[in-house]
Amino acid sequence: MSEGAAKKEERHKFQAIRGTRDLLPPETALWNHVEKTANEVFATFGFGAIRVPIFEPTELFARSIGLDTDVVSKEMYTFEDYEATELVELRTAAVTNVASLATGEALIDFLDRVGNFILAAEKAFEAGRIPRTPENERTLQMARELIAILQTFRYQGEREILPRVAELKDAVRQVRFGDVISLRPEATASVCRAYIEHGMRQLPQPVKLYYIGPMFRRERPQKGRYRQFYQIGAEVLGGSDAPAIDAEVIEMVMTFFDRLELHGVQLDINSIGCRECRPKYAQLLRAELLRVKDKLGPDSQRRIQTNPLRVLDSKLESEQGTIATLPRITDHLCEACATHYSAVKRQLEMRGVFFRENWRLVRGLDYYMRTTFEITAQGLGSQNAVCGGGRYDGLVELLGGPPTKGIGFAIGEDRLILSLQESGKAPAQPGRDVYIAWMGERAHATAIRAAKDLRKAGFSVELPPVEQKFGKALGQADKLGAKHALILWR
Ligand code: HAM
Repeated sequence: MSEGAAKKEERHKFQAIRGTRDLLPPETALWNHVEKTANEVFATFGFGAIRVPIFEPTELFARSIGLDTDVVSKEMYTFEDYEATELVELRTAAVTNVASLATGEALIDFLDRVGNFILAAEKAFEAGRIPRTPENERTLQMARELIAILQTFRYQGEREILPRVAELKDAVRQVRFGDVISLRPEATASVCRAYIEHGMRQLPQPVKLYYIGPMFRRERPQKGRYRQFYQIGAEVLGGSDAPAIDAEVIEMVMTFFDRLELHGVQLDINSIGCRECRPKYAQLLRAELLRVKDKLGPDSQRRIQTNPLRVLDSKLESEQGTIATLPRITDHLCEACATHYSAVKRQLEMRGVFFRENWRLVRGLDYYMRTTFEITAQGLGSQNAVCGGGRYDGLVELLGGPPTKGIGFAIGEDRLILSLQESGKAPAQPGRDVYIAWMGERAHATAIRAAKDLRKAGFSVELPPVEQKFGKALGQADKLGAKHALILWR
């Protein structure tokens, strides 16, 4: 490669990672407007802002969202986090041997290095600086035994030694240095964790929280679907599952969309029952699905066993006719769930919230029960769900907290912005109020003072850093859309 070509290649090397993107002005003005509106509307419903970490133990998400869900089984960004950095060095030294192990000395040297690592790892294990898990204990024990065996081997040929050396290296590599953590794919689990950790049960109930921030899922990127995307979400946690709470949460998100003048908003609701009635319905549905199995595609066929309710989610054209004939959960709810669902609908009507009942709305996360809902908006193509939510009583308990009821939603902010843009609602970046054209040292000093005073009074001011001819300065002022030009000279 020529030097020029190499340079060019270097210049083109860095791009935002697939599925991530930069948000730039003037679009960011719309993002700010949306977030400001969320802050205002949610405050009128008594919600307080919470900020939770971007990463949490993988276990937290696995336990709440469910191991068999797409999100947990294949979409999380997961890595090991550790503090014992000295162990990394010792491990690298132990497993990277360049010399052949044919000679006794080379083997002794290798065993010394591995021994150093194991000793340090054992100390870290005792002190709790690496996870005190049964797996780690077993691995360290195994490594110690292999070292002892190899020490007796030292004068034999490579052929006997090498398999044992490989085993030992494997054991060394298997020592876990830290917790397995994941970038958050959603924030409901984190909010529940925070509710428990900070003893929020002691606060007046229910506790109403909202959040705005990035989430991460390794999905196939397309319009409205990203690997780093943003959610505006809210959660209500407390002792009551009164249907009015469900209705008010939904009313809040609809009020927010209304305030933003989002077009083509469609709210779908459903009840997916509880621990009592859902398993019975799932069994019935499974039996029905087995009867019509041949009419279903391979994905749905697989789901008959793993999660029959997810079959209802299918968008496959060829399956729609068959799915329409299946039993509906709303006809199989237990009495308590049926009463709750009717009351939620009545409460929505009292609030003037229009909805469509959709018995096929099951949602893709395991923690839901009873009320589920989804909101679609105009101009989004196939990824048209702009908000999803539902009730998740029992999730806090599942995470080790007190029995608690919960309901919430998350809006896909990227999709919300897309839909607003499609309907032409893109507030342009506001132009400058004042452009200060100056010439000469003294004029520059005056310009700096004038800019300070004007900015203090709330005006947006552009102060060019270097002297410009007035003609050029005014041209620049025009390009920036400045409403006024202040001309100072000498
Ligand atoms: P979710 O349905 O997984 O629910 O996500 C909520 C919304 O986030 C979706 O409707 C969509 O607008 C947006 N979204 C999801 N994945 C992506 C993506 N890859 N790219 C762009 N937007 C995306 C939850 O996350 C639940 N935590 C909601 C909730 C809160 N339920 C109760 N409380």
